[in-house]
Amino acid sequence: MPNPADLTVVASALVSDERGILAADESVATMSTRLAAERITPTESNRRDYRELLLTAEGLDETVSGVILCDETFRQELSTGEMFPVGARRLGILPGIKVDTGTQAFEGAATATVTTGLDGLGDRLAEYASLGAAFAKWRAVIDIADPDDRALASNAEALAEYAALCQQHGIVPIVEPEVLCSGTHELSTCADVTRMALTVVFDRLQDRGVDLSGIVLKPNMVTPGLDNDDAPAPPVVVAGATLAVLRETVPSEVPGIAFLSGGHPNREACQNLAGINQDAGDAPWQLTYSFGRALVSDALHAWAGAPGFVGAAQTRLLNNCRRASAATRRPVAV
Ligand code: 13P
Repeated sequence: MPNPADLTVVASALVSDERGILAADESVATMSTRLAAERITPTESNRRDYRELLLTAEGLDETVSGVILCDETFRQELSTGEMFPVGARRLGILPGIKVDTGTQAFEGAATATVTTGLDGLGDRLAEYASLGAAFAKWRAVIDIADPDDRALASNAEALAEYAALCQQHGIVPIVEPEVLCSGTHELSTCADVTRMALTVVFDRLQDRGVDLSGIVLKPNMVTPGLDNDDAPAPPVVVAGATLAVLRETVPSEVPGIAFLSGGHPNREACQNLAGINQDAGDAPWQLTYSFGRALVSDALHAWAGAPGFVGAAQTRLLNNCRRASAATRRPVAV
């Protein structure tokens, strides 16, 4: 049985020291779509080259504590011949693995989904641990247009089961109940649905006996929908609404909260994170980032699949990571 203290150390390391988590775990299908959109042929080797470019950007470990990879990348090799998780550790970055297998329609609901991947999860976690995984991720998707109670309960149960299994295998679970940012909804609707989702998720985690000091929560920030005419909201408004929901729902034992970017561009996501940290006062958790698109989209665009543009792409990535890292600074209490 793994030592619970180790889980706490890893969870804290992921969210501390002005560092955050790079989400580079797009599924093969999603990554292929993103490559094709940049006119890059979506082959296995191009997906590998792109992830190598990200991970090996010099000095990435100054702003990035961990990288989330998908199964394909986890089993690929860097140009050094090391497997990605081994290379990540050498570079000072903890390797993480996305272990859910996607979503399926929730029976009887309008558009709500439930996340799949519990079948055989224990065996897969044992293998990922042997390959070097320090942490894992499972993403539940909460559709703001159809926040079906039963789908929410089912997603929360799956998250709790996943988190308990991860901890049994010595792997820190990232618990991600993502209320989608797309849509025309008001900020107050996002606040209501996020509050509801986090309440149910923490109920289930506690029922299942998950050690909350050995998890990282990965939620959305509370914002108006990306297609709302009033979007984006000022960072001070997003910060106030986000912190109010977190204070109502997230127990103080949780060491850190690493937000997803949800389709918000880098500058906006970072301004919102900075606003949250400015306003956080004595909030008990570290407040950092686990952005995907807000860190990597510029790099993918700059690379365009050309070896000669690797350096330019890495510069874009590092600049975005530095901006995110600066946004984690909290004013010193006086
Ligand atoms: P975005 O930051 O692009 O939303 O991705 C984060 C993530 O890992 C979603 O599961």
